[in-house]
Amino acid sequence: MSDLVEVSFLPDEKVVWVQPGTTLVAAGDAAGLEIVTGCTRGMCGTDPVRVCDGSDRLAPPGDDEKGTLERMGLPPEYRLACSATVRQGPIVIELGSF
Ligand code: FES
Repeated sequence: MSDLVEVSFLPDEKVVWVQPGTTLVAAGDAAGLEIVTGCTRGMCGTDPVRVCDGSDRLAPPGDDEKGTLERMGLPPEYRLACSATVRQGPIVIELGSF
């Protein structure tokens, strides 16, 4: 259990423990929360979520996600749930803030 990553979702305060490398969409699914997605490749920008804590514990965005975030003009605490993967916990994500 020690290598699992704790991810909390606001505002529902649901907490899950997932394997490193899990996307935020998959973590949300494990928590019973649906995060609406489109392309699932970091291109369409359907699924921004706010990282309230632990942004440095997520893997850095790849080129596609980075480009989409820049195009959308989102503040730096936002990531695309389909593309952001967890590395270590704890991580706190706020849904529905965009
Ligand atoms: S689903 Fe398209 S960017 Fe995440």
